[in-house]
Amino acid sequence: MHSSNAAKKLSIADLVAQQTPGWSLDQRFYTDPDIYQLELDRIITKNWILAGHQSQLPNAGDFMVFRVANESAIIVRNKDGELKAFANVCRHRGSLVCLEQNGNTRKFECPYHGWVYDTDGKLLAARNMPDDFDKASHSLHPVSLDVVHGLLFIAFCENPPSLKGAKRDLEEPMAIFDFPNLKVAAQKTYAIAANWKLAIENYQECYHCATAHPDYAKMHTLMLDAGKRERVQGHMLEKMEACGIKKIDFDYIDTRARPGEQGYGYSRTAMFDGYLTGSRDGQPVAPLLGNIKDYDGGASDFSFGPFSFLLAYSDHVVGYVFTPVDRDHCQCQIYWMVRGDAVEGKDYDRDQLMWLWDITTYADEKIIVNNWKGVNSRYYQPGPFSGMERAESVYIDWILQQLRD
Ligand code: FES
Ligand SMILES: [Fe+2]
Repeated sequence: MHSSNAAKKLSIADLVAQQTPGWSLDQRFYTDPDIYQLELDRIITKNWILAGHQSQLPNAGDFMVFRVANESAIIVRNKDGELKAFANVCRHRGSLVCLEQNGNTRKFECPYHGWVYDTDGKLLAARNMPDDFDKASHSLHPVSLDVVHGLLFIAFCENPPSLKGAKRDLEEPMAIFDFPNLKVAAQKTYAIAANWKLAIENYQECYHCATAHPDYAKMHTLMLDAGKRERVQGHMLEKMEACGIKKIDFDYIDTRARPGEQGYGYSRTAMFDGYLTGSRDGQPVAPLLGNIKDYDGGASDFSFGPFSFLLAYSDHVVGYVFTPVDRDHCQCQIYWMVRGDAVEGKDYDRDQLMWLWDITTYADEKIIVNNWKGVNSRYYQPGPFSGMERAESVYIDWILQQLRD
């Protein structure tokens, strides 16, 4: 009988120690509330998560709310033009302060008893409080916020991993696509009724692509075997430099992250001949990004910590952020980004732009939820990863590393 059904429940430490490398996780990693709590403490609130792009908050007073699991942050541009982030939790009795998803404001008024905070999180007014009440010590709690070449990252803790390596090494590849000057042309949230790890595990492997994503599989070569892939990769490499896209490759992801640093990685992969970008017919859906001169037939993968991934085609960038809602639910937030000066209706059409990753994400939602249902069965037991699930296997190793003492 499988260990998770054994009469005596193993400690989390023993369960982690007992996990076979290269095999999927024991059922308890998906269902045990104590493990989920440990993940909240050690993973979910300890790492940077992509929360959007700086272009979404251009003016003083612009704000948006960003939620992950039990946490909610207000990200706001203050009156001096600086970006700030605060816990969306009132210092009176803890109500959510801001109930709108985004907007523009000079102050945030708590809907419960009306305490008022400014865009620096400072408490401005609190009715009927005693004379000796100290407003200065009741500011909203700060949340860690940083901007990486235009992308906003949030961490719900005071000492998140360093972004030094990421900022330095990603500068060059992100400059190719002019990340600082992108704009979010579309954004959509997909609710997924499954444990969050299953959603990210699914994103990390393309073993399922041939079966689940006929459209994606027509253009992307990730599910090819090594030999065939090298040939198409060669075609792209011949064109890349002339198109203005330098060959860059690095991998400091998950277990390969430098100590104390947030993991990150970058690589570019060829698409099949005839596909210039990730669109229905492979034809451009937006103007070329940055200083790219022509289509090389490739797409670049950026990884950034445990929750955030980006795919940069030559004419648009798609950002994917997978975050838990609770133990049994998660969400995938997708951002479609184009050149900052591209005009909707003239330079791009939102539906054309969103088509591939909208249908692909709905298909993924289905397979992830089916996976979740089976993982909850009394017959579930870990299975061996294929050669096409290497990144997922590394991710699992990293998760186990975080849960270990
Ligand atoms: S909880 Fe916010 S004012 Fe009372
Ligand atoms: Fe998929």
